[in-house]
Amino acid sequence: MSESTNMDPNRLMSRRSFTAASAAIGAAAVFARPSFGFVNTRVDQTLKVGVVGCGGRGTGAVIQALKADPGSVLWAMGDAFEDKLSGCLHYVNEAMLDLDDEQGTDSWAKKVQVEGRTYSGLDAIHKVLASGVDVMILTTPPGFRPEHLRASIDAGKHVFCEKPVAVDAQGVRSVLESARMAKAKNLSVMSGFCWRYQDQVRETFEKLHAGGIGDLHTIQTTYNTTGWVAPNPRKEIWSDAEFQLRNWQYFTPLSADHVAEQAVHAIDWIAWAMKDQPPIRCYAVGGRQTREERPETGNVWDHFSITYEYANGVRAYHMCRHWPNTPSDNSAYFLGSAGNCTMQPWNGTHRIEGNAPWKGSASSNDMYQREHDVLFRSIRDAKPLNDGEFMSHSSLLAIMGRMAAYTGQVVTWDQALNSKENLNETPWSMSDRATPPRPMPGKTKLI
Ligand SMILES: NC(=O)c1ccc[n+]([C@@H]2O[C@H](COP(=O)([O-])OP(=O)(O)OC[C@H]3O[C@@H](n4cnc5c(N)ncnc54)[C@H](O)[C@@H]3O)[C@@H](O)[C@H]2O)c1
Repeated sequence: MSESTNMDPNRLMSRRSFTAASAAIGAAAVFARPSFGFVNTRVDQTLKVGVVGCGGRGTGAVIQALKADPGSVLWAMGDAFEDKLSGCLHYVNEAMLDLDDEQGTDSWAKKVQVEGRTYSGLDAIHKVLASGVDVMILTTPPGFRPEHLRASIDAGKHVFCEKPVAVDAQGVRSVLESARMAKAKNLSVMSGFCWRYQDQVRETFEKLHAGGIGDLHTIQTTYNTTGWVAPNPRKEIWSDAEFQLRNWQYFTPLSADHVAEQAVHAIDWIAWAMKDQPPIRCYAVGGRQTREERPETGNVWDHFSITYEYANGVRAYHMCRHWPNTPSDNSAYFLGSAGNCTMQPWNGTHRIEGNAPWKGSASSNDMYQREHDVLFRSIRDAKPLNDGEFMSHSSLLAIMGRMAAYTGQVVTWDQALNSKENLNETPWSMSDRATPPRPMPGKTKLI
């Protein structure tokens, strides 16, 4: 299952040398124009984009940001690691040169203007923020998102931030507060919950909300895949921290576990169907059955099943797993008093069977590109958008399921929202770092 523009730039073959790309960056400097602020930004003003987290999604998001707006330029880049910076820069340059080739222009390559503004290390965010950017792309592992979002809003930047927005409840509360601060400062905050920007899925939820299946009573969503990003065996020169950062998906403090890192998209469908009202409580099971026992596969589980109960009697069931040699499935089923809706957006299935059968008619669109088109439009029009509340609540919905599964306890929404769990209590540095414990239901405490 291909989730997204989740490219690994380091694995991509180059058709051009770095020399050509670097020349393009140098030439691009002449195009730099001053930025005049965030509100009422005229269309002829440059919007300087900074990215922190230059892996697959960061690379994709940069390209989308450059395509979204004629005046956007890539201005600064930050990553924990130098090799990730150069991989991303290389791939973005390639994409821009491709566009120039296709269109017979030389303007796309000039959108990359990062010379002297590429920063490595865990403090890279602060250097990117200080470089004069207008728009931040936050695409590190989610463990850093609350801190990076707060720093970006404090510095007065518009933000695109990937999902999930936190790994624990104290992170979610911080993001909710940052989103409120963004509103007060007229800054846009766009989330990476990309299905919210896919026309066929939007049309389906509009139909559901308009009563297309009568009264909704049951929801089932799945996110079953055969695997995940390949883990990286430890290199001798790596510190504990580097080892975990280079395998971040496999460590709960960095990824939130796959139920919240990846399956959160299908959990967001539950939230969306429920008009973003939270459940009363949930309970869950899960475990680690097929993951190979190697240090680089960390402490995360490989399957979860969660039941959410809502005040109006709706029950929502979510299942996700990473099991090799088993069928993949990413579907949603909405059962109502007057019909049932099936949504399988990867293959274009959006239909209702029942009293009033319906088949979606919207066209498919590139939801990743649409997000940036909408974000940059909102900045140009000085009509800030703010995904803050739903992106925080959908992230918490998944985190709450993980908490229920890890502890074996029934978890209420209030317990989840007020949880004191802090998975990154020890500040991150590139040195020693304890491996997080394996959760054990009945023993792992609900904090
Ligand atoms: N919306 C989607 O469909 C979608 C798809 C893929 C990934 N994502 C999300 O995007 C985020 C990134 O995922 P990815 O697949 O690009 O991962 P990745 O590993 O390819 O990239 C993450 C990058 O962040 C860097 N990094 C780690 N800690 C950092 C720090 N403190 N400061 C600066 N850089 C740091 C890493 O070195 C790495 O280059 C995750 O939250 C993921 O869930 C969303």
